Amino acid sequence: MKNHQEANKMNRRSFLRSSAGIAATTLLVPFSANKLLGVLMPKTPNIPNVQLNNGLLMPHLGFGTNTLNGELGVRCVTDAISVGYRLIDTAAIYGNEEAVGMGIQNSGILRKDLFLTSKLWVDDYGYDSTKIAFQASLDKLKTDYLDLYLLHRPRGDYKGSWKAMEELYQSGKIKAIGISNFDAEQLADLMTIASVKPAINQIETHAFFQEHEANGQLKEAGIMHEAWSPFAAGRNSIFDHQTLATIGKKYGKSIAQVCLRWHFQRGIVAIPRSSQKEHMRENLNIFDFELDNADFNTIATLDLNKTQFPEWG
Ligand SMILES: NC(=O)c1ccc[n+]([C@@H]2O[C@H](COP(=O)([O-])OP(=O)(O)OC[C@H]3O[C@@H](n4cnc5c(N)ncnc54)[C@H](OP(=O)(O)O)[C@@H]3O)[C@@H](O)[C@H]2O)c1
Repeated sequence: MKNHQEANKMNRRSFLRSSAGIAATTLLVPFSANKLLGVLMPKTPNIPNVQLNNGLLMPHLGFGTNTLNGELGVRCVTDAISVGYRLIDTAAIYGNEEAVGMGIQNSGILRKDLFLTSKLWVDDYGYDSTKIAFQASLDKLKTDYLDLYLLHRPRGDYKGSWKAMEELYQSGKIKAIGISNFDAEQLADLMTIASVKPAINQIETHAFFQEHEANGQLKEAGIMHEAWSPFAAGRNSIFDHQTLATIGKKYGKSIAQVCLRWHFQRGIVAIPRSSQKEHMRENLNIFDFELDNADFNTIATLDLNKTQFPEWG
């Protein structure tokens, strides 16, 4: 009997010990598993898509990578994907396509679930050199296709390049082709030889350079307006701007969120850059409020209607 009681006590003790173990595991597993799964299986993003003029879907908000080079670039791209970005914007001239490629590999995301943009730099313009430069970008990014490939600037033999890009597009190596920094006249010139209409024009657009005319022309032409430097890269003290701060206060949102929501409501794809995971998260959190007409009218008064990057002219 005594032995039986002792055995029961032992069983209870080991049962309690193992229950405590299971309870602790239950508490700990979601924590560590989330952390692990966050790397292996990034959360499903809730970023709406836009549809390009060839039917391709593209996230309405993406991640810019200019100046995010080397280890910093790898870490930022991995972080951006882990918090939910699926559109990643790079360019040959940024010198970070390898870092972007490594960041994508580290994220564990399937290539098909990403929308990857790169851009052809002007030194590689011309039919033959475009094909070589495109392959070099693919190799650095460790991928065999691009979702979007852009002519970075309207210089030199952009028509020869466009012909090469059209062929790469027709062969399925690029899902959509587009332009960047083209004005209406340069676009019209390109269209004299184009058999594929650009899907996108990526141009400087932010509160201080709102590009209303270009926006109207692009809409009319069926070309998506994509904003580079959606925060003017911090110039003009945008992150301390009183008017934008006042609007943000109304909704419990930051200046960055007001700016990105403004782009979103204008139907413009924005690609903010950040090196900080908290900022990356904050910049995605713009789909639960709506700027009203009065806010739009107020933001319209901030337009200086000229580039804030005259050095790149
Ligand atoms: N096609 C072209 O010719 C062209 C030209 C320029 C840029 N682009 C593309 O557009 C992308 C974006 O433009 P950009 O890189 O010039 O600048 P941007 O996105 O307008 O601004 C980046 C700056 O904003 C800060 N920031 C980001 N989120 C913030 C937040 N929530 N609160 C406070 N500060 C915040 C960042 O600092 P932290 O790192 O501290 O967050 C960084 O200093 C580029 O990365 C590139 O992919 C294309």
